[in-house]
Amino acid sequence: MYKYYPEDIIEEVRISNDIVDVVMEYVRLERKGKDYFGLCPFHKEKTPSFSVAPAKQIFYCFGCGKGGNVIQFIMEIENLSYIDAVKLLADRARIQLPDGDSPEEKEKALIKRRLIEINTEAARFFFSMLNSPKGEKARWYLKNRDIKESIIRKFGIGYSGDSWNELFIYLKKKGFEEEHILKSGLVLLNKAGTFYDRFRERIMFPIFDIRGNVIAFGGRVMDSSKPKYMNSPETVVYNKSKNLYALNFAKNSGEKRLIIVEGYMDVISLHQSGIINTVASLGTALTESQGRTLKKYAEEVIISFDADTAGQAATMRGLDLLSDIGCNVKVLKIPDGKDPDEFIRKNGVDAFKKLIDKSISLVEYKIEILKKNIDTDTVDGKIKFLNKTADILSKIDNSVEREMYVKKLAAQYRISEESIFSEVYKRINKTAGLKTPAINAASRKKISKGIQEDGIDARILHDERFLLALLCVDNSIYRTVKDKITPDIFSDSQNKEIARIILERIEDGRGIVPGELLGMLENDIADDFARLFNEECHCDDNKKAILGTIRNIEMNRLKKRQNEILDILKNREELTKGDVEKLEQELMSLIMRIKNYKNI
Ligand code: CTP
Ligand code: MN
Repeated sequence: MYKYYPEDIIEEVRISNDIVDVVMEYVRLERKGKDYFGLCPFHKEKTPSFSVAPAKQIFYCFGCGKGGNVIQFIMEIENLSYIDAVKLLADRARIQLPDGDSPEEKEKALIKRRLIEINTEAARFFFSMLNSPKGEKARWYLKNRDIKESIIRKFGIGYSGDSWNELFIYLKKKGFEEEHILKSGLVLLNKAGTFYDRFRERIMFPIFDIRGNVIAFGGRVMDSSKPKYMNSPETVVYNKSKNLYALNFAKNSGEKRLIIVEGYMDVISLHQSGIINTVASLGTALTESQGRTLKKYAEEVIISFDADTAGQAATMRGLDLLSDIGCNVKVLKIPDGKDPDEFIRKNGVDAFKKLIDKSISLVEYKIEILKKNIDTDTVDGKIKFLNKTADILSKIDNSVEREMYVKKLAAQYRISEESIFSEVYKRINKTAGLKTPAINAASRKKISKGIQEDGIDARILHDERFLLALLCVDNSIYRTVKDKITPDIFSDSQNKEIARIILERIEDGRGIVPGELLGMLENDIADDFARLFNEECHCDDNKKAILGTIRNIEMNRLKKRQNEILDILKNREELTKGDVEKLEQELMSLIMRIKNYKNI
């Protein structure tokens, strides 16, 4: 295991570099279903057997067996050490690593530190401006919007006055260099060579990174002039597509779900009402990087975007994006086209909590939108609705869930269950051939070196790893098997170690995802886990699968002991009578237990 940079920074680097984007810089990929395929860059081949799975953020080659996460991909392809691969990716995602060794790295780190200091000082400046006599109008504006003193302090809300260069002068006085002040984006330089403040006469919202550093600002006008908001440009410390507003607070909410809204005011309003598991994407379309961050901090994500057409399109995109990367998503619908802030101010927080409880799944949302847009009173409309609904349902992987929706739909829209099922199955059978690329038996054998061979030890080793992989893919099943799993039950010492990490992560609430685990493993073990994630962890029902695997492991262990005893008993003349008796008793009880297992 690698220990150099702190684990959470390596994890930040990993989730900030989408594996599909990174691999595409080296390999031509084509999308098939949820995954991407291309020619493997690590061995010669004519037909693509190299795959990239965005949901799990891993790559795997069915031909040569190489696999891993984005960091391991860069190590292999750029022939870099682990640390250098992390550095390369950190640079790519503009993440500050703890001080590097080279002069350039030190310089880069220094600039990032300065920009954070400048933003922090600016936040202090805007905050004191709000509370000075000049800030009266701004205070009145906030009061009018029911924003309380305590929340103003918590979010560091401030005010930028009407002067052209007050902030610039303040920052200069604090000793910052002009070059750094310019780089922060808070100050601009005009053609005549004079510096002037970007934000004037606006309510100022500091934007924090996940650690609570101020990295940028959004500024709102206090009337209806345009643009309503002005934001800091992207800088070496602010990456719009990565950041989620208020995640620094929301991540401590202790809730298993996060609500994502569109704007500053929505977040602030919800936090003020005690619903602190809320973050905002700040008006931009949700990105994969944001999606992965959400997934890391929540078991379930509830999208609550504005209900206007733009909001509806954003909701649909967000839903697809989140569910594609393996997030559980729901939609919270606000009646009358309001945004969360307006709704709460009008109807109170309890009414909003009711809306949270009534939030609907991706499938339900999609079907609802279909229903809205198709006139199902006509025969044509009914057929169209049925076809489109079947398209949606056929994409659900879990058959139990699929069946539940079919039943619900049949009742709700008065279509027979059989006709929905038959349309759905038509589609499933059509796409079934697409999922796995051609793998010949020989390469499959080569890949799974020994593991699929017949020995009981190999089977136990495989099942143990499969169990660990499945836990990583779906942390929530841990609850089901908590009493049955401890690191001690794993017979392989490496598996024990891996189990210790996974269980600790799940138990202390941090959780763990496939790409993250791969990053902690030596390359050959990572290959094997990548294969498991890719080829085997597609269970209809993860709970059943894990329970079955535990049973197999236990049974194989009993069988192993049975074989051992039979072996010993072959030379019974060398044993005492008492020993033979003991062994035969144990054998009997083993046989009984194995039989019992088989009967379950
Ligand atoms: N936004 C932006 N620039 C704009 C308009 C919006 O950056 N010209 C972003 C802001 O981050 C804003 C979010 O998009 O918070 C949502 O926009 P909107 O719903 O219009 O703003 P609200 O936050 O609801 O603000 P308010 O309630 O004050 O109108
Ligand atoms: Mn609003």
